[in-house]
Amino acid sequence: MSSKEQVGPTGRPLPTFPKPAELTSHGPARIIAMCNQKGGVGKTTSTINLGAALAEYGRKVLLVDFDPQGALSVGLGIRAHELDTTVYNLLVSREDDIHDVIQHASENLDVLPANIDLSAAEVQLVGEVAREMVLARVLRPVLDEYDVILIDCQPSLGLLTVNALTAAHGVVIPLECEFFAMRGVALLVETIDKVTDRLNPRLEVDGILATMYDGRTLHSRDVIRSVVGHFDDKVLHTVISRTVKFPDATLAAEPITTYASSHGAAESYRQLARELIARGAAA
Ligand SMILES: Nc1ncnc2c1ncn2[C@@H]1O[C@H](COP(=O)(O)OP(=O)(O)OP(=O)(O)O)[C@@H](O)[C@H]1O
Ligand SMILES: [Mg+2]
Repeated sequence: MSSKEQVGPTGRPLPTFPKPAELTSHGPARIIAMCNQKGGVGKTTSTINLGAALAEYGRKVLLVDFDPQGALSVGLGIRAHELDTTVYNLLVSREDDIHDVIQHASENLDVLPANIDLSAAEVQLVGEVAREMVLARVLRPVLDEYDVILIDCQPSLGLLTVNALTAAHGVVIPLECEFFAMRGVALLVETIDKVTDRLNPRLEVDGILATMYDGRTLHSRDVIRSVVGHFDDKVLHTVISRTVKFPDATLAAEPITTYASSHGAAESYRQLARELIARGAAA
């Protein structure tokens, strides 16, 4: 390792990810599911802020709220509980046009919103033919209009999450840097393997994203080392630090990239966008 090389929080040399080239045309979208059945690990925060960072780089981005809690929609200022049509309607009937359901959030950034209605979908879809492929069907008409589609999964491995994994090209696994981070990851990997085997052979794990990292504590550093020890180069170089700027931005219903544009936390999601582009996981 040359003395110039910087070691990143994952303990590996930190590459520099170049500013991505401008796109001259758009689509077809690569779909990424942001998935971990553990609650509160940063799925929604990462979906919003990665999406906003990709949009800043000129990528056309659709964020799919696939959690009945609707936290992604609300986090971008959409009053989801007041909406008559959401992703739920698209899943259970063919009456609505997805274009009429999508909401515009900011330049290059759109949202397919969800609200509590979505909680009924899991039960309603059980009797459907090809019940795991419904979200893929719903997204098909807009694939050519976006460069990246990010799906914010709910904290479960139920039918909605299986739909997200079946629709996706890749999966990003946010992992909170705390002692029990790895608990449950084996089950998630098993689910991803089953979906790859039976429903969606193209599905790849794009990376594991360490979140809520506190570099001052030995504990956070230990967790990352053990995650890297286990998953090696599947662990993304970009690590998201723990900062109150994230809950603050959520309260302001804005991505961190506009709420605190020059803060390190905003820069870390821009770096994540560049890293995924450099890996070929995003356009
Ligand atoms: N890097 C961070 N630093 C500090 N707080 C964070 C960070 N990332 C997320 N948070 C906060 O942690 C909480 C959980 O984050 P988030 O909602 O993104 O997780 P989630 O995995 O989507 O949760 P759920 O499983 O409930 O959907 C939120 O209050 C969020 O503002
Ligand atoms: Mg969430």
